[in-house]
Amino acid sequence: MRKVLVTGGGGFVGRWCVKRLLDEGDEVHCVDNLARFTGAIDPKKGWPLYEPFDYNNFYFYHEDCRNYFERAKDTDFDLVFHLAAMVGGRLMIENDPLAVADDLSIDSRYWQWACKANPAKTICFSSSAVYPVKYQLKEGYWLLKEEMIQFDTDIGMPDMSYGWAKLTHEYLAKLAYEKYGLRSVTLRPFSGYGEDQDDSYPFPSICKRVIENKGASVLKVWGTGDQMRDFIHIEDCVEGIFTMMDKIESGEAVNLSSGIYTSFKEFVRLAAKSLGYFPDVIGDTDKPEGVFARAGDVTKQKELGFQPKISFEEGIRKAMRFYNI
Ligand SMILES: NC(=O)c1ccc[n+]([C@@H]2O[C@H](COP(=O)([O-])OP(=O)(O)OC[C@H]3O[C@@H](n4cnc5c(N)ncnc54)[C@H](O)[C@@H]3O)[C@@H](O)[C@H]2O)c1
Repeated sequence: MRKVLVTGGGGFVGRWCVKRLLDEGDEVHCVDNLARFTGAIDPKKGWPLYEPFDYNNFYFYHEDCRNYFERAKDTDFDLVFHLAAMVGGRLMIENDPLAVADDLSIDSRYWQWACKANPAKTICFSSSAVYPVKYQLKEGYWLLKEEMIQFDTDIGMPDMSYGWAKLTHEYLAKLAYEKYGLRSVTLRPFSGYGEDQDDSYPFPSICKRVIENKGASVLKVWGTGDQMRDFIHIEDCVEGIFTMMDKIESGEAVNLSSGIYTSFKEFVRLAAKSLGYFPDVIGDTDKPEGVFARAGDVTKQKELGFQPKISFEEGIRKAMRFYNI
């Protein structure tokens, strides 16, 4: 049995990681302030796929992790899953864009605490938003490879404040290892999705729109609809995290990606097809679409023993079943 701290454990990825740890019999300490405009769900209200308090190895602290770092004196954590973040999704950018700046202080306080608490290993959650925007343009795009970011020579321009904050987190992880001997691995998830994700994310909101408009001859999609992302099912993400987390200790990053580009138009077509209809899909160009093409190279994941198994079509069908269709 390991003693594990999970910051941001009430969020989408957190709930899945917590479940895996609880099932493995670990003692799980979860700290989350259940921040607005995030994917947080209060465990006291029950989590969509399981009841964490059914496990007697689950401890929850409804608290800002920065306060927790001030007061926690534990020096015996075997693992920390550091997930707490103000994720720069659509709702956050529309309602509270500077909130993402909190990530800088969440991560700096984390590493300062880690220097004292000395957890045996940190699992750091970065993002595909750290990759230089120049590799994700309509005029030319490439599968994003971990080595495109070299802290000693070239980092490029990441995607907005969220990308900047996550890149800084990665740099602190590197320093923490080199100067303080703190072991960690950094994951760069692409578009992780699943049926229990917050509706502010594209995946559930598009699926639900396709359900509501079942049978329509035309469906609209955000932006031009030609923008492409790399969708990876949350069960694959968790498998990837647990397969690869012991294989790196220097803070080095590895993608969590499928390597497959899917446009939002294609996504809507697949979702409609799963319900038996075939609409024309058109873009709604009034809304921002972000970078044009973002998908992650899978070479390093494969070398570390991980390959995603759930196709996007299968992931959509799973979600449709969950939404009772
Ligand atoms: N889901 C994805 O596909 C994806 C992609 C890229 C990166 N990530 C990264 O993975 C991590 C988890 O993402 P997610 O999708 O689960 O997001 P989420 O919004 O569902 O979860 C984030 C959690 O962090 C909590 N939080 C925020 N500020 C906090 C603070 N000060 N103290 C304690 N808790 C705090 C929120 O309340 C929320 O529960 C994040 O670091 C995110 O940047 C996720």
